[in-house]
Amino acid sequence: MKILQVDSGLFTGQSVSRELTQKIVARVQAENSNAEVIHRDVIANPVAHLDAEILMASGVAGNEQTDRQRTEVALTEALLEEVFAADMIVIGAPMYNFSVPSQLKAWVDRIAQAGRTFRYTENGPEGLLTGKKAIIASARGGIYSEGAAAAMEHQESYLKTVLGFIGITDVTIIRAEGVNLGEEARAQAVGKATDEINALNAA
Ligand SMILES: Cc1cc2nc3c(=O)[nH]c(=O)nc-3n(C[C@H](O)[C@H](O)[C@H](O)COP(=O)(O)O)c2cc1C
Repeated sequence: MKILQVDSGLFTGQSVSRELTQKIVARVQAENSNAEVIHRDVIANPVAHLDAEILMASGVAGNEQTDRQRTEVALTEALLEEVFAADMIVIGAPMYNFSVPSQLKAWVDRIAQAGRTFRYTENGPEGLLTGKKAIIASARGGIYSEGAAAAMEHQESYLKTVLGFIGITDVTIIRAEGVNLGEEARAQAVGKATDEINALNAA
């Protein structure tokens, strides 16, 4: 079994999403002794945002590509390879400004590719990454699961949409929200998320 762990929390020491991805991966490993983990940390090793030079590289013959295009194509292929190989993708997703960190979006922009992870058919787009599971470790300062702020939530909903678009529809959300509403609220939110991780059917 192969697990791809993607982390995007800015702070390494005190990141809630990183704490949760670590616990999720440990839990899955405990149930699957042969599980292999690939760690893609998009903060430690940022993926450049898509620009025209990167986007157009695939239409240019290898020997005519710029050095930068060659480097970036190799990175895109490595990112795709990690996703293709994974049985499970564990994504650490903090809410930053109502959505995901731009570093995580940059990773998504490399792996969401027509002809590779989805394709257009007569019946509309079709995801190609079938048979995989995803677990999203969601961390939020405020509360968005209910109440007035629910309509401002573009983090979990965005990730679920794009994962579904590329064929990953088996998505579990582990959520710690309200972590910036005081020490007690934070401890409670992380405790509840940890209970959910311990109860995961991770086999
Ligand atoms: C740049 C930045 C933007 C943030 N934006 C929001 C936000 O829009 N809504 C919210 O509820 N919390 C927001 N927060 C709080 C984070 O969601 C919260 O600290 C959470 O723990 C982040 O996950 P992390 O600990 O893995 O970084 C923001 C934090 C930062 C650093």
